[in-house]
Amino acid sequence: LGLGGIALGGCGSLLPGNRELPRIPGANSGDAPSGAVKEFEIFSEPLEFEVGGRRVSTWGYNGRVPGPEIRVTEGDRLRMRVRNRLPESTTVHPHGLPVENAMDGVPHLTQPPIPPGGDFLYEFTVPTSGTYLYHSHAGLQLDRGLYGPLIVEPKREPLDYDREYVILLDDWLDGVNGTPEDAFREMNTEAGPPGGMMGGGMMGDSSMVEYPFYLINGRPPEDPETFEVRRGERVRLRISNPASDTLFRFAVGGHRLTVTHADGQPVEPVEVDALRIGSGERYDVLLEAGEPGVWQVAAAPEGRSGLARALLRYRESAATSPPPPNSRPEELNGELLLYGDLHNLREETFPQDGPLAGGPDRTLDLTLARQMGGMGGMGRRPGRGWTINGQTYPDAEPLEVEKGEWVRVELTNHSPVPHPMHLHGHFFQVRTEGGGGPFKDTLLVEGHMGRAAFDFVADNPGKWFFHCHLTYHMESGMARVVRYR
Ligand code: C2O
Ligand code: CU
Repeated sequence: LGLGGIALGGCGSLLPGNRELPRIPGANSGDAPSGAVKEFEIFSEPLEFEVGGRRVSTWGYNGRVPGPEIRVTEGDRLRMRVRNRLPESTTVHPHGLPVENAMDGVPHLTQPPIPPGGDFLYEFTVPTSGTYLYHSHAGLQLDRGLYGPLIVEPKREPLDYDREYVILLDDWLDGVNGTPEDAFREMNTEAGPPGGMMGGGMMGDSSMVEYPFYLINGRPPEDPETFEVRRGERVRLRISNPASDTLFRFAVGGHRLTVTHADGQPVEPVEVDALRIGSGERYDVLLEAGEPGVWQVAAAPEGRSGLARALLRYRESAATSPPPPNSRPEELNGELLLYGDLHNLREETFPQDGPLAGGPDRTLDLTLARQMGGMGGMGRRPGRGWTINGQTYPDAEPLEVEKGEWVRVELTNHSPVPHPMHLHGHFFQVRTEGGGGPFKDTLLVEGHMGRAAFDFVADNPGKWFFHCHLTYHMESGMARVVRYR
């Protein structure tokens, strides 16, 4: 694929010890504003939602799930007025974008929550292009339907493609199996009632929420959205996973995927059949429309049954009927993208350790685990906690860093389930064998003693949330604050 010219120029900043640290696009990268102001009005509100032939009451943005697309260009001034029509307080977080701390939307940490009837203006200069999300960061609200796509186009598009589709994956229970609050309560009951909504999942206990539906762009498999293409076109898919408790495996029947971006950041194009996408992660892929037919765009929840799907329909094959909703494209079991396959496409990269490069100024060694019994993360709720170094947020010490430092985070997962760990306010570089790993903001740490590490430059002062993006884990304490001294 002719993807030339995508590399971003950039000069590193020379730091003590003659080390060149990457100048990562972010709130303080000094990129020139475009001068344009883009205004959006977002209502957080109760709404009726049709899912699997039922009408349920839930919460979402501007009357729909997912919320309306917010699309801007890097350098724009984004002004997003959020009006809260919910019966409880809320915030909105621009997931993945390194904005200034006060605009990050974490209740009690970066702003007071927006009360019912209140409003808040999120305003910032959009620091970098890519595929992002906006979503509620209050309690379990994300698992209602309070999320939407936030797409930032580059000033000049280096990729060459004919069409683009935005794909949001979700797991759905609200209004069908009670509410997220019910699920959380049941999860934190020592012995969840057998046959209740908490499935055994792969853990053989009640640590996973059981979802009756998996959705693509708010639609169940029986009523899929259709993406039209023509033979010979090159199609860009922007895939995001804002689901609250689900790791998806994603593939498109009959097509290979060329991954071009991970968490909005450009990578050397790599071709695969399928990719795993944890909560909070995003991938951009290109596919060549070559095989006329009606194909499934499928996302299979890992460790559970069921499927989310949309359809890829060629104009040339209007007569073909879609595959049945319970059929799975074989590409789901094909060649899978691994982090080690992803190579950063920037000039900037963290130096490999060595006598010349030195090493990070600070290493944070973090252990992810599940604490049985005792008090849950919220203190007032009895039950189990998901911990970082044995502590549950908010009763947890902040992780301290200093401005300008090269910080390394090393993670070990003592629990059996993968945790998608998300850092606010910064991109980090995933440490992969041989170096040059992708810049991301969310990283899956595999279960059963899985290990992962990343490096970031502490270049965006503030108090930043770092947490597991599975809403129920976050709410049970798997979170810390990264605080600049
Ligand atoms: Cu997508 Cu802290 O969140
Ligand atoms: Cu987790």
